[in-house]
Amino acid sequence: MGPFLVEGPVEVVDEAGTVHTSHRFRVALCTCRRSRTFPWCDTSHRKRPKDAGPSPENGPAEQEGSP
Ligand code: FES
Repeated sequence: MGPFLVEGPVEVVDEAGTVHTSHRFRVALCTCRRSRTFPWCDTSHRKRPKDAGPSPENGPAEQEGSP
């Protein structure tokens, strides 16, 4: 799952009450919580999760006994 795109400017208030402001005309909000710039998407969602199975996006699964 990727980011949620919204038109800016936007203000996002997190759980701690901190207000994050962006003045961009379009903003990508992180929905995976892996972003280092949360609540903004930094494309970290593209990295393979540890428990991901094989898929065209993640690549083939390693097979036991293969070199
Ligand atoms: S949705 Fe892109 S880093 Fe979370």
